[in-house]
Amino acid sequence: MRRVTKNVRENRTINTVYFNDEESSRARPGQFVMVWEPGYDEFPMSLSNYDSKGLCSVTVKPWGPGSGEMVKARRGDLIGIRGPYGRPFTVDKSSALLVGGGTGLAPLLPLAKALVKEGGRVAVVIGGRSKPDLLFEEQMRRAVRRKNLFITTDDGTYGHKGFPTDLAESMIKERRVGRVYTCGPEIMMRKLYDISVTAGVEFEASLERGMKCGIGICGSCTVGKNLLCRDGAVLDAKDLKDSLDEFGVLQRDQSGRYIKV
Ligand SMILES: Cc1cc2nc3c(=O)[nH]c(=O)nc-3n(C[C@H](O)[C@H](O)[C@H](O)COP(=O)(O)OP(=O)(O)OC[C@H]3O[C@@H](n4cnc5c(N)ncnc54)[C@H](O)[C@@H]3O)c2cc1C
Ligand code: FES
Repeated sequence: MRRVTKNVRENRTINTVYFNDEESSRARPGQFVMVWEPGYDEFPMSLSNYDSKGLCSVTVKPWGPGSGEMVKARRGDLIGIRGPYGRPFTVDKSSALLVGGGTGLAPLLPLAKALVKEGGRVAVVIGGRSKPDLLFEEQMRRAVRRKNLFITTDDGTYGHKGFPTDLAESMIKERRVGRVYTCGPEIMMRKLYDISVTAGVEFEASLERGMKCGIGICGSCTVGKNLLCRDGAVLDAKDLKDSLDEFGVLQRDQSGRYIKV
């Protein structure tokens, strides 16, 4: 159990909840923790920050009762943390293009910092429906510098008008991109997969599925032959090649039935 140290409002729906945890502070970019909101539920969350002093955070959008309660957390409240779990993103010197939407920016923020530290070229595209939906613009600007940060809004209220996938596609065509990293709505990630594979660019995505155990036992988090908690949550183009009838198309509900993504 860990005590919440602060809760920061990021935009009109999303909050970042901070806590101290030594084990989570040793995480690698893209790893997640199972967060227990007492009296409600336990659910997976990407680590959006972690530092050498043990300060960590998760960045939460309220969907159901558990995450709805978590965004209201106050300093001193207790939350349960298990982990960190899962396969992280690859961190090397390849020229990287990071594309994120919504809470998908959460695992991309520590990734951007790690890639810059590694010495690679890093560009970031942040997408949102409208200006008030954008997440981590300032934090990403500090991580990768202004000229490497690109914003898109579907309604054109800020940055480039259009989808992040359209801007990413032109950047992949114009620039020398070695690897695309993405997290966000699965339809966006599937489009980016198709664009990247066609362009012969490496691809890694952090996917979301309902998780119960988080450690490869219960089988609730399948994506094709992969168990997302154990083999992901970061999957690369090779992992996804045999799951294209599910990736961006289908996922399982809590009872195990397939539903549309
Ligand atoms: C590896 C991993 C990392 C994740 N990281 C984050 C993160 O950083 N921040 C974050 O906010 N969430 C993240 N999630 C999703 C998060 O676990 C769920 O949003 C959470 O389980 C919701 O729990 P709940 O009990 O509040 O809602 P539930 O009671 O589980 O769901 C309530 C309703 O909302 C729907 N719903 C729940 N989650 C989503 C979703 N993501 N998209 C669309 N509909 C949804 C459900 O289908 C259901 O109808 C991550 C998931 C995975 C697998
Ligand atoms: S959550 Fe149980 S196997 Fe993945």
